[in-house]
This record gives sequence, structure tokens and C-alpha cells, in this order.
Amino acid sequence: MIRSVVTGTGSALPAQRVSNAELAERVDTSDEWIVERTGIRFRHIAAAHETTATLAADAARAAIAAAGIEAQAIDLIVLATATPDQTFPATATKVQAMLGIDDCVAFDVAAVCSGFLYAVQVADAMLRTGVHHRALVIGAETFSRLLDWEDRTTCVLFGDGAGAIVLEGREAEGDTPRGILSTRLHADGRHNGLLYVDGGPSTTGTVGKLRMKGKEVFRHAVVNLASVMGESLELAGLTADDVDWVVPHQANARILDATARKLGLPPEKVVVTVDIHANTSAASVPLALDVATRDGRIQPGDIVVLEAMGGGFTWGAAVVRW
Ligand code: UT7
Repeated sequence: MIRSVVTGTGSALPAQRVSNAELAERVDTSDEWIVERTGIRFRHIAAAHETTATLAADAARAAIAAAGIEAQAIDLIVLATATPDQTFPATATKVQAMLGIDDCVAFDVAAVCSGFLYAVQVADAMLRTGVHHRALVIGAETFSRLLDWEDRTTCVLFGDGAGAIVLEGREAEGDTPRGILSTRLHADGRHNGLLYVDGGPSTTGTVGKLRMKGKEVFRHAVVNLASVMGESLELAGLTADDVDWVVPHQANARILDATARKLGLPPEKVVVTVDIHANTSAASVPLALDVATRDGRIQPGDIVVLEAMGGGFTWGAAVVRW
């Protein structure tokens, strides 16, 4: 039986870091409001020369180096984004060219903030067929380009960045093999109007701006995330007591707290980076994963639960033995 094992992580952030106080100089908000309601203190904002593809390629290079392989060894790139460089071709193909990979399968996945979880499930399924051997799974976004900087209810919440993992298909060995143990995804398209972009190539012919009814999204997020984490643990034959780390989508510190409480997980098992990255949509889970792997919190053999929820709605979770 083949399992998809995480062999490397990487991340990249735009050089420009913006504090709440700096934001309060251009928007009617305050550091106090943002910290109290969301836990966010900083976000990184892409400069003109930084794009979803350049951030994704930087994160991918770091993940490939951590995996100790050559870029040419990658035969699959699945890139989750809602902010592609171009409507087409897929940003994944641009990243392939930037990495100098001559031939591989490369495509984008669009599931907004849950995009990385969707990409992980797709890559895992493709690796387990045995046709592909080494995948780059990337979450990369430049949400600053979709923000309405006049709308204080949304523009303070998001940031730009990218995270990546290398997944390798390996024959499972022993009773507790490493790798992805379960994945579970959901979508409910009836909630389009609660979190969306008001433009697109086939409707307005424009890129559009992000719109969100935050309170309603918050309510759905806590219920859906707790439930899908429970489902993914059950699929893996585990319980909340077995979990070493939860690496959640970083939208709001209050959502992270409420979700962990619902599952009876102590807050110290939850990796929190929303304070330094804000909400980076599909990039947030792999960004947080890279932070907690490089600082030594996540160790080989640990049970790690990834989870995310976003526009659509879409939501999902994955259980990994690191
Ligand atoms: O990534 C996809 C998932 N997305 C999410 O999970 C986001 C989920 N939602 C949230 O995180 C929260 O709902 C928000 C952070 C967006 C908002 O927090 P809230 O506690 O639900 O606040 P609210 O929308 O009820 O607004 C409270 C007050 C309002 O004033 P009034 O009507 O009480 O006078 C807002 O106008 O806060 C005001 N407000 C602000 N004040 C200062 C809204 N935005 C701001 C702001 N600065 N940036």
C-alpha cells in the first residue's frame, strides 16, 4: 500500500510587512479592534514584482531543499489559489517553468481558503495510484490584489504569502506508517453570497473585489471545522486524544479557540500564526505548517490535523502521521 509522506516544507512571504497601526493610518480602524476581534497584528503585502507565482516558486524551492531532492524529481504540481497570475494558464505551470522542471503534470485547484486541503487530497489520490511519485503541493495567494481598501470590515483581515510541501509516495512499512492517514472534504454552494469576489472573466470581465458577511462565515466555520476534524480522525481510526498538533486555517484567533474547545483540544496543541500572517487563504495552512516544522514543534511520528474552511463554502481536514 502506498502512503503519501511529507518529506519537506517551505514558505515565502512578501518583503513588506504592515502592522495594524500602519493600516490605521489609511483605514478607519485601530490596532485594538483588530487584535481583540481577530488576533491579527501583522500581514505581508506583495509589491508589484511579487506575484502568486513568484511567492509559490520561492516556497516550493524551500520545500524541495528541505526534502533534499532536485526539482527535476517532482512529477506533479498541484497549486491551490484564488488569485492566479493570469486567468489562464494555470499558475502551477508558471511555477514549473520557474523551477526549471522539464516535464511534469501541473494544474491549479480553486477552493479558496480550503484550497490547500483540496490540493492535498487530489495529490494524495494521484500518488497512491503509483503513477506519480513526488508531488509539490502549494498554497499561494496575493489577496491584497482582491481587497477593497475602502472596506474596513474586510481589508484588515487578509495578507499575501505562500507555503508548500513535498509529498512522496512510499510503500507503507510497519504498523504505524508515516504519511496521510485520511482526508475529508465538503462543499455547500448555497452559501456563495456570504464570501465571494464580485467579478470574474465570465460575468463582469473584471477581477472584482472580495465581499464577506463575516459574522455568518464565523458561525458556519466553527461548526463545520469541528465536525470535519472529527470525521477525518474517525476515518483515520483515531480520536482527539491522539492528536499532537492541529494546524488550522488562520482566519481568526477566536475561530481557532472555539473550534479547539468544541473538540476538547488544549489550545497549546493549536499552531497559531494568524497574528503574524493574517488570513492568507490557501497559503495559511502550509505557511503555519512550515513555521511549526522549522521551529521543531512538529516531529516525525506526530499526529497532525490540518483543517480549513472558506468561500463556497468549502471545508476539509486531513490527518497526517508526520
Ligand atoms: O477565510 C475564510 C473564513 N473567514 C472567516 O473565517 C472570517 C470570519 N469572521 C470573522 O472573523 C469576524 O466576523 C470578523 C473579524 C470579520 C468581524 O468580527 P465581529 O466580532 O463579527 O464584528 P462585527 O462584524 O459584528 O462588527 C462589530 C463592529 C461593527 O460596528 P457596530 O455596527 O457594532 O457599530 C463594525 O462596523 O465593529 C465594526 N468594525 C470595525 N471597527 C474597527 C468592523 N470592522 C472594523 C474595523 N475596525 N476594521
